[in-house]
Amino acid sequence: MTTNNGPVITVLEKALADTYALALKTQNYHWNVTGADFFQLHGMFEEQYGDLSGAVDELAERIRALGQLSPGGFKAFQALTQIEDGDGASSPMDMVKDLAKGHETVSSLLREGVATAEENDDVATADMLTGRLTVHQKTAWMLNATAAR
Ligand SMILES: [Fe+2]
Repeated sequence: MTTNNGPVITVLEKALADTYALALKTQNYHWNVTGADFFQLHGMFEEQYGDLSGAVDELAERIRALGQLSPGGFKAFQALTQIEDGDGASSPMDMVKDLAKGHETVSSLLREGVATAEENDDVATADMLTGRLTVHQKTAWMLNATAAR
């Protein structure tokens, strides 16, 4: 790689921390959701944190492929993420809306990240972040549709 990949690493670290925090929040809601829609939401949240956990691994390993050590602890993630912890006592629809907001927040970061990767001629990272952006936008749509009924 001939270009400085510092800005790309920064974006990947933020995307990793946000994805990790959103996975944890989604799993929190998977565990603690209650009510008549329990089975539907418990299952939907499980699918979503499964996807997010897979993405965590992909993003961390992309940082390694670019030659940097990956963040890997709660303190490091907390310093990097813009996603706040979820409240397991929230109502089911507040959980759904909070997760939709989280996916929209990550989507904004990823849109900027794709541009940063392209500016730095890192097509592989741009492609990875574009793939993640597609998933986050689809998940936000599904959550918003769930909250709208
Ligand atoms: Fe479970």
